[in-house]
Amino acid sequence: MLTEDQLREMRFYATANDYSDAERYERFALSLKLDERGREIGDVVASLAPARILECASATGLTAAGVKERLAAAGISATYHSLDIEDALLRFASARSRGDCFAQGSFEHVPFSGDFDVYIMMGAMGYRSSPDAFYAEVARVLKPGGHFVWPLIGMETRASDEEREAMARNGLTVVRDAGGFVVCRRQ
Ligand SMILES: C[S@@+](CC[C@H](N)C(=O)[O-])C[C@H]1O[C@@H](n2cnc3c(N)ncnc32)[C@H](O)[C@@H]1O
Repeated sequence: MLTEDQLREMRFYATANDYSDAERYERFALSLKLDERGREIGDVVASLAPARILECASATGLTAAGVKERLAAAGISATYHSLDIEDALLRFASARSRGDCFAQGSFEHVPFSGDFDVYIMMGAMGYRSSPDAFYAEVARVLKPGGHFVWPLIGMETRASDEEREAMARNGLTVVRDAGGFVVCRRQ
């Protein structure tokens, strides 16, 4: 059950699409326990034993913090690349070492060189221009055999048929769609 404050903030981000106040977004994200969700994501990512990780729409870096914590606990050394369109969020994350490499830009044109083992994106599927354009870019930057990790949040429950078809058209095979995660493997 969401509180009045959470509902107000949710409406604000859904309508204004203004993430320029990093402290405000961090408060909202912590109220939703996205730090705990970051550690759950970390457990899924650690099971894939990655060396190079990309997170798009990384915001204040709560997912990065959770993933890096779980990787360290598992003795896995990986480089974490964070991409967001909002520079204020990246500066907030970078100042707290929630990630290793930071770039401002759009997930529609990822500015990092590719060859990622894992690509994570949570809570930003609604900002895509189309599923096909998005998954083509996911496939471009993932290594063959690499994984796209989509932690479900809010109203998201499973990958729809439309999502699965777009994934398949772009060489991504669903290997998990349960327990709050969709995970695809790049052919
Ligand atoms: C609801 S927040 C989710 C952020 C984070 N993954 C989380 O769960 O807290 C949406 C994020 O998407 C980012 N964003 C929106 N459009 C984007 C784009 N085209 N490329 C990269 N980031 C984008 C926003 O700046 C914001 O950080």
